[in-house]
Amino acid sequence: MSSSPIPSNVNVLPQTRQLLGLYSIIRDKNTSRSDFIFYSDRIIRLLVEEGLNQLPVTDKLVKTPTGAEFKGLAFEGKICGVSIMRAGESMEQGLRDCCRSVRIGKILIQRDEETAQPSLFYDKLPEDISSRFVFLLDPMLATGGSAMMAVEVLIARGVPQERILFLNLIASPEGIAAFAEKFPNVQIITGVIDDGLDENKWIQPGLGDFGDRYYCI
Ligand code: URA
Repeated sequence: MSSSPIPSNVNVLPQTRQLLGLYSIIRDKNTSRSDFIFYSDRIIRLLVEEGLNQLPVTDKLVKTPTGAEFKGLAFEGKICGVSIMRAGESMEQGLRDCCRSVRIGKILIQRDEETAQPSLFYDKLPEDISSRFVFLLDPMLATGGSAMMAVEVLIARGVPQERILFLNLIASPEGIAAFAEKFPNVQIITGVIDDGLDENKWIQPGLGDFGDRYYCI
């Protein structure tokens, strides 16, 4: 885990032994695809729960079967998911597991081979997205190029930064710094911040290509 100062809009999951064990499995190059999926899904579930934890709430009083009152709370506001294709789609089920029948939009951004700049190829977003909290899903925050372009698409559709939560399993310090400088009011929820990017923009120590390991290998 990186020792650089963490910007205030970045929320890193508590580094419990349980979480470290899960990361040890998905980072291991010898882990089978089915284990990679199973243990990544467990981390994704924790990220979604932490994202839900950031949403506004109101007081709610309920009566329990014992006749007593319980001073609890209720979530406020509607949410939706937006996955950055292809790897972000791996996080959709984790969101559905917590929020039944949640609406999920998609954004396809690809890096131009010649310029290395990301460009937008496709988006399909819920009509009423501007009135929702948006869980933006992409498992690896490397340079942040795709995620920042996705946030620009959301802002152009009327979603304020304050209602965007970007969920990822592993972030690089470079990606965090670039993203937090450009969008200081978007909440980043990550499982861990790694050491940095190598010369080919892979996260180190990282886990390789998340999409390939989840969908192909
Ligand atoms: N995307 C990945 O899947 N892995 C990285 O290390 C960087 C981007």
